[in-house]
Order: sequence, then structure tokens, then C-alpha cells
Amino acid sequence: MIVIASSNGDVGIRQSIAMMKAGGSTLDALEAGIRLVEDNPADHWVGYSGMPSILGEVELDASIMDGRDLTAGAVGCVKGFPHPISIARKVMEQLPHVFLVGPGAERFAAEMGFEPREMITPETRQTWQADLASLAQNPTQLENQPLAGLVRHFSNPHRTRGTVNFIARDDRGNIATGVSTSGFYGKYPGRLGDSPVIGAGNYADNRYGAAACTGMGEMAIRASTARSVVMYLKQGLTLEAAGIQAMIDLRDLGGRFISGMNIIAMNAQGRVAAFSSEPGKTYIYMTGEDSDFHVATRSFVDVPQRWEA
Ligand code: GLY
Repeated sequence: MIVIASSNGDVGIRQSIAMMKAGGSTLDALEAGIRLVEDNPADHWVGYSGMPSILGEVELDASIMDGRDLTAGAVGCVKGFPHPISIARKVMEQLPHVFLVGPGAERFAAEMGFEPREMITPETRQTWQADLASLAQNPTQLENQPLAGLVRHFSNPHRTRGTVNFIARDDRGNIATGVSTSGFYGKYPGRLGDSPVIGAGNYADNRYGAAACTGMGEMAIRASTARSVVMYLKQGLTLEAAGIQAMIDLRDLGGRFISGMNIIAMNAQGRVAAFSSEPGKTYIYMTGEDSDFHVATRSFVDVPQRWEA
């Protein structure tokens, strides 16, 4: 068995392996690991204490995919519930749907018995207020003001980072993938990134492998990045070549807003690799034989950034 995660998965990866050792499924393993990241108050890009939208509201996105049969669940723009990964799993298991957003997702979360919580912390509120005050003429009265120009200037490539990725594989070759995020800091209300979009930020297929993304979700949506990695594996590329090709697809995107992107990936045999547009960026993995996780460096593929606000 093996689990690969983005580096901020360090608070949960041991729990994922322990869960599979105790007989849990790959879905149980990654859900348990991601919940610990969602609860981590020091992580401002996932779950509780995540960075808010331009209006100061924490809107969470998550998805989960089962590589055995390609079933999936996703939620987007969820306010007031700290564990979107668990709500996404319930969507997959309890509904004939894949994707719920906004008030519908929140209604479903309450119906499934999830406990609501105030999601913004005093610290993140203070950061948002200070950042907003430096840009908006009247930061206390945004409700009825146009927001588009403000979002373009508030957002910059250095603020698009975050998100957690987990891919788990058991000894029978079952693979599952989970992604959770508070998304793009200062986003337009209602914005969805790649994390809840199956094929963009998350994809798993036992026959070929799996991939998940962090970074600027708009790019992964446009290039169908997670599905591309798995498709390149299906076409016979090695794991390393598949990841690099998916990064090159991101590099080749046009448009005014191009920022950082990262991929973690696994092939059907359980080999792992990861890729980044930032040199030196790390990821983590842990097997059932390991006493602790390993830290490894991602393969670097240059994706020049531009932000023409
Ligand atoms: N990759 C997370 C997001 O763009 O929301």
C-alpha cells in the first residue's frame, strides 16, 4: 500500500496508512487524512481557517474519486461546513449525482448530519481586511459594488497557492484520489477552481493510474490536467513522461492570467511522481512498510507566469 500527497498532507498521511493497515479502504484512508488537513488551523488554504473570497466568506471545494469504477463526488462553494471531502464522499455514495454547489450542497450536508462551524478565524479575517483596505475605496461596503476589477487586482500569482491532494493505493491495486481547498484567495464569490472538477484537479482509474493538482485551478480546468495525466498513461507514456507532458500542456496555455501549477501522480503499479512549475517544490509519500513519510522533490517544468490585471 502507498499514499502520495502534497506536502501539506503531512498532518494526515500517517493516519491514511494506519487506516488501510486496519482494514479501511483507499477512500477511508484519504478521507481520514484530508480531514486532518481540513482541521489544521495553520493551513490557510484548506478547510477551517481557509482564506476567504473578496467578500470575506470562506467557500470550500472538494472532490473524491474511486478508481475501481470511476464513481466520484464533488462539492463546490460550500460555506459553514469544515469537511467538504466528507460531504463529497456522501454525494458519491448517497445521490445519483456527482457535483453539488452552494446552498444545495449546504442543505445536503445538514441533511447528512454534518455539524456547521464558523470557518473564518480572527487571523484570516484580519489579513483579508488589511489586504482589502489597501485596494478598495470603501472596503466595508462591497455588497453592492462592482467586484470584477477589484478581484483582478486583489488576486495575484502568489496568492493562488494552496489545496491538498491525496492519492491512496491498497495492496489489491485499488486507487482513490481526494482533493480539498478553500480556493483562490480573494476570488469572486461563487468561483470554482479545479479541485471539485473531476478531470481537472482530480482523476483516478485503477487500470492506468491517478493524478491530482494544486495551484491555479483555472489552468487545470482549461487543460483537463488530472485526466490528461491518466490519458497519457493510457497511451503508454511512462509516469514521468505523462506528468511532464501535462505540465507542457499547461505551459502552452494562452491568456492573461497564468500562474503556478503542481501535479502529484501515481501509475497503476503504485509508482509515484510529482511535478511543479516552481523549482525545489516537494511532495510526500508513505508505504505500509515505512515508519514515517518520505519527502521528495518534484520534477520542475518551467511555466512562465503572467498576470495582466
Ligand atoms: N487549485 C485550487 C484552486 O484553484 O482553487
